[in-house]
Amino acid sequence: MGILNLFRGKAPAKIVGERPVPRHIAVIMDGNGRWAKKRGMPRSAGHAVGAETFRTIATYCKDIGVQYFTVYAFSTENWKRPKEEVDALMDLFRKYLKEAAETMFQRGVAVRVLGDLTPLPADIHAQIEEVDAIADKLGPDAATASLCINYGGRDEIKNAVRALAREVKNGTIAPEDITEDSISAHLYTSHMPDPDLIIRPSGEIRTSNFLLWQSAYSEYYFTDVLWPDFSTADMDEAIDAFNRRSRRFGGV
Ligand code: IPE
Ligand code: IPE
Ligand code: MG
Repeated sequence: MGILNLFRGKAPAKIVGERPVPRHIAVIMDGNGRWAKKRGMPRSAGHAVGAETFRTIATYCKDIGVQYFTVYAFSTENWKRPKEEVDALMDLFRKYLKEAAETMFQRGVAVRVLGDLTPLPADIHAQIEEVDAIADKLGPDAATASLCINYGGRDEIKNAVRALAREVKNGTIAPEDITEDSISAHLYTSHMPDPDLIIRPSGEIRTSNFLLWQSAYSEYYFTDVLWPDFSTADMDEAIDAFNRRSRRFGGV
């Protein structure tokens, strides 16, 4: 697991524009429903505008040199929502995965979908396979935009524990071989460094089950801006706040 060790400690910040940028930024895209409600619109309209914001901010992150951009789009708990809202979100995933398949190769962005994909509709499965194949062709050094769909941090850890338990049971590894790195290697994010910066808009100050293991030393940034209103200037502000932090990772 030597590769993962490379990502430990202070990653050198990359400077492309006027400010150094974190290597991995993650966003809990929240506030779409309230944005729509304020305007007397259905929640699905908020999701549609939020998806446009995703496109704008993902593009911006790529342009300023952020290597990994990860967004929380649908949690394992979001199935509790009304069927028409869930259906509207699935339609947005269809639309954006189609767009990704058409444009990602020429834009040089590897799109990945992270989460337990088994309950998703079959046509979305096929779309994910298509973008996966393109991302594989782009290779591990490409800028990566990850969409977390039916993602839950606890569910992800449970699945990793099950996989490791199976390996112990069939004798491939001993219990002592289970390490922090081997757990990381069984998560959906195994190919990425942990997030440096996690942004949650909409005024909520909680993780809502996002990247529980990976966020051990992430810097959090909270803002009252609702996700559909989140602009590139808001991203600059979050990055500036991140750059003012002193990350000690338990040291001095
Ligand atoms: C988007 O925001 C998050 C998703 C689950 C897609 P919300 O739909 O949670 O918006 P609020 O929190 O109700 O405003
Ligand atoms: C978290 O937002 C999930 C996503 C943004 C996809 P929620 O709106 O589902 O979280 P809670 O219910 O406010 O904690
Ligand atoms: Mg919400």
